[in-house]
Amino acid sequence: MSKLNLVFLGLILSPYVVAEVPTPAKLLAYNCFNCHGDNGVSKGGVPSIKGLPANILELHLKNYRDGTQASTVMGRIAKGLNDDEIKELSSFIATLK
Ligand code: HEC
Repeated sequence: MSKLNLVFLGLILSPYVVAEVPTPAKLLAYNCFNCHGDNGVSKGGVPSIKGLPANILELHLKNYRDGTQASTVMGRIAKGLNDDEIKELSSFIATLK
């Protein structure tokens, strides 16, 4: 490939490389952070969710969703999530630093 072609390729690809496109899980998590605090670290009132392992998060959300785990608001929130979303969201939150 010539140098000129490489320059054009760079121009075509650069917008995709530069712009950080949030994953769907990240977008869902922003909603959680409204109550659970930035990055899942709560300022009090609601429990922090940062640091919980993915399988525990997944279990909480599924139990809230089917009503096995009592809740004030989480049941309603979890009902809006399907299995795939719960899995991706849990893996994402579990990796928060
Ligand atoms: C409207 C505020 C609010 C939002 C939004 C919210 N939560 Fe919660 N969350 C709570 C409250 C309050 C509790 C305590 C249980 C209850 O009363 O519902 C809780 C409990 C939890 C727990 C259990 C933590 C523990 O250690 O017991 C997890 C896990 C959790 N939420 C995850 C999430 C996730 C993931 C999202 C985003 C999809 C989310 N929450 C969105 C308010 C919220």
